[in-house]
This record gives sequence, structure tokens and C-alpha cells, in this order.
Amino acid sequence: MASVETERRAPFSLDSYYVSEELGFVLPDPLENLPSYYQPWMDIALRVPELVHSHDLRSHINKMPLLSTKFLQNHRELRLAHLVLSMVTMGYVWQEGENDTVEMLPRSLAVPYWEVSQRLGLPSILTHADAVLANWRKKDPEGPFDMENLELLVRLPGGDSVKGFFLVTLLVELAAVPALRSIPAVINGVKCGDTDAVTKALQNIGQSIQDMNDALKLMHVYVDPSVFYGIMRIFLSGWKDNPCMPKGLVYEGVQTEPIGFSGGSAAQSSLLHCFDELLGVKHEEKSCAFLTRMRNYMPPAHQKLIQDISLQPSLRGFVQQRANEALSKAFDDCVSKLLALRSYHINVVSRFITVPAARARQLRTNSHDSEGEMVSRAPTSLEERGTGGSGIMTFLKTVRDKTKDVLLHETSKKTVHENCHQ
Ligand code: HEM
Repeated sequence: MASVETERRAPFSLDSYYVSEELGFVLPDPLENLPSYYQPWMDIALRVPELVHSHDLRSHINKMPLLSTKFLQNHRELRLAHLVLSMVTMGYVWQEGENDTVEMLPRSLAVPYWEVSQRLGLPSILTHADAVLANWRKKDPEGPFDMENLELLVRLPGGDSVKGFFLVTLLVELAAVPALRSIPAVINGVKCGDTDAVTKALQNIGQSIQDMNDALKLMHVYVDPSVFYGIMRIFLSGWKDNPCMPKGLVYEGVQTEPIGFSGGSAAQSSLLHCFDELLGVKHEEKSCAFLTRMRNYMPPAHQKLIQDISLQPSLRGFVQQRANEALSKAFDDCVSKLLALRSYHINVVSRFITVPAARARQLRTNSHDSEGEMVSRAPTSLEERGTGGSGIMTFLKTVRDKTKDVLLHETSKKTVHENCHQ
């Protein structure tokens, strides 16, 4: 076994973290089917939107046989099983909206779901790792990764907007792959004092973060804010700190006490956690607690990568100590791109949550048009909160402002301040 000292001196690489060279954190070639023994799960999972619509999902699940998980043999089978059981669970809990939730998940769902989750090191709730990273297929296997050629494996209610929401997020993950690949070059460059290599790698990361921003813009093309707010959002909600499920959820046959899990959120994507650790962004206590909690909703190998990046020598310290103009510029450019991404994300959240929430409040009393009906049907308990349970705007702005703190030059801070507050 290699000693700690040898490991510290060895070049940093992404090899042991389940990060794909081509796809980053995205699961390569997710399976589309489980062994035939699991057909009862697949049959229900592929009909979740339809069964929720007809209010029949709960009765179908209550009749489902209790299946053993021992025939699930490899990582891809387990990931598909987790995705399928997660989608079914979200449909089961939220079938009747916020007013008629359940206190218990039935044994035939809870027991296998819990076992699969334990084997993967994931919580028993829908996560970003399920809905985005492991929920895609290409229509033409040789074709490109674009909206026309991509399809979801399992859906929630919300029609094309659900497809748009998960697949645009997938495209954001894919746009980040060059950034992810450049992280070892930064770390190794710092370790051996190679200013040029670090500069070049930071330029690549900055470019890639800009590409993430461009991909995020597609949200406005493929997702209807009223559908997102009025229909989809509740199905992403969790049962921790949620007033409509104050006690949490009992997983029957697992334990008698209820358990609380946060809802799905791209705060569970490992990307920005990696960038923050690399660039030295330190979050304020409350935001930090939320973001740290979100790491428990990521695959363990990805959590480990974030943790290991945080243990490396300080990049910002290296840049300051070198006092090299090109290097400092590359560092500040990279931070500015991350800031721009966070600012743009705040706009997206405003468009998809804050604006429809205000409209819902206004329309709840006096609307008759169908779009108004859709937003006003949205859960009131989620109005001011994210699906992960956070008070949205204050949280997102604090996180953005902490990113700004790591800029090196006052001039960069000023330019960024003006752009963020336009
Ligand atoms: C319609 C699209 C989106 C909406 C409405 C949205 C909403 C939110 C909300 C409400 C939060 C606060 C945390 C929570 O309670 O869950 C959040 C956090 C976050 N979201 Fe999104 N999001 C969207 C798309 C995305 C995409 C595509 C990404 C990129 C992968 C992303 C990345 C993040 C990150 C990293 C955080 C944590 C805060 C930070 O590090 O800045 N979001 N989002």
C-alpha cells in the first residue's frame, strides 16, 4: 500500500473518482432496462406522469410485490434502480399535492429503495445524480449531445418542460467537462511551481465556465416557467424542513422513526463545489452548512474528489506569491466567470420561481385564465423556499458575494460589482 507521503507527492489525477474523461460527472451509457425480474418497477416508473394524473400511482405501488435487490449486480444496474425507485417515490409522496401527503412509504418500495441507496452511498430520495446524471440516452448513438438527439429515461409530470429541465442541466454538466479535466493541471502546476501550466489550465477552466453559462441560457428555450413552478417543482421537493411533511417520512420495514431528506437540486452537482474548493471560495456559515449537507446527496467518489481538492496547497496563495501578471489575470478571469454564472443563475431562479410565486399570490384570489390556474395550484409552502429547503434569494446572493471575495484585484471587484448589480 502506498504511504501517505508517496500519495501526496504523486501527481493529482481524476482516475480514482469515477469521473469520465469524456463526460465528467455524467454517468456514461446509463442502462435503459433492469433485469426482467424488476419489470414490476419499470412498468410503474415508465408511467409515473400518467398514473399521477389519473391519481392511480399510489394504488399501483401499494400492490407492487416486494422484490429482492440481490439480482442487481453492477454500478449501472444500481444507478438505474435508484433512478426508477426515486421517481416512483416522488410520484407516490406528491401525487395529491401538498395537502394530502403520506406519512409512510410502503415496504415493497421502501425496503429495496433503502438497500439500493445503501449500496450506492446515496440517500433514499431523488437526487441530481439520478434525475440528471443517470437519466439520459442518445436517440442516435453516433449523434451529438444536443437537445434534438437526447431523451430522458424516466420522467416526472410536466411534459416537455421536464425533459427540458433535466436535459439542459445535463448540457451544463457536459459543458463543464474541460474545466474538470483541467483541475489536475492546476493542482500539479501549483505543486511543482509551473506558472505557465497553471495559467493555461485556469484559462481553460474560465472558458468552460462560460460555456456552462451559455448552456444554462437554454433553460429559457426549453422550460416553461409556469409548468416548472405550477406542476414540476413539487415533485422535486423533499421531506426535511418542509412544512407539509413536518415529521419526515417513515420508510416501512427500514425503521419506525420518520426520516428527513432534502429535495433534488443542482446544488447537489459536484461542479461548483469543486471550483469553490479550487479557487478558495469560503462560504458564510449558514450557506456553507446547506452546501456541505448537499454533498451527502452526491455519489461518494465525487464527494471524495471535492474533499481531496480542498486538501491541496492554496491556489490563490500561489497566485499571490508568484505576482505574475498573466497568472493573476487568468485567476481573476476565472473567478469572474464563476461569478457571472452565479449571477445568471440568480436571474434564472427569479424567472422560474420568484416571478411565478408573485403571480400565484396575486392570482390565487382573482384569476380565471388557465396559465394563472397553473401557477396558483403550486404549493404555497414552497413559495419562498428552494426544493432543497433554503430561503432562496438571500442564500444565492450570499453565495455569489462570497465568490467575489476571492478576486485578487480591486479593479476586477469593481467591474464585477457593476455587472452583478445592473
Ligand atoms: C430552472 C432552472 C433552475 C432553477 C429554478 C434553480 C433553482 C435553484 C434554487 C432554488 C437553489 C437554492 C438551493 C435549493 O434550495 O435547492 C439553487 C441552487 C443552486 N443551483 Fe440551481 N436552479 C436551476 C438550474 C440550475 C442549473 C442548470 C445548475 C447547474 C448545474 C444549477 C446550479 C445550482 C447550484 C450550484 C446551486 C447552489 C448555489 C451555488 O453554488 O451558487 N441550477 N438553484
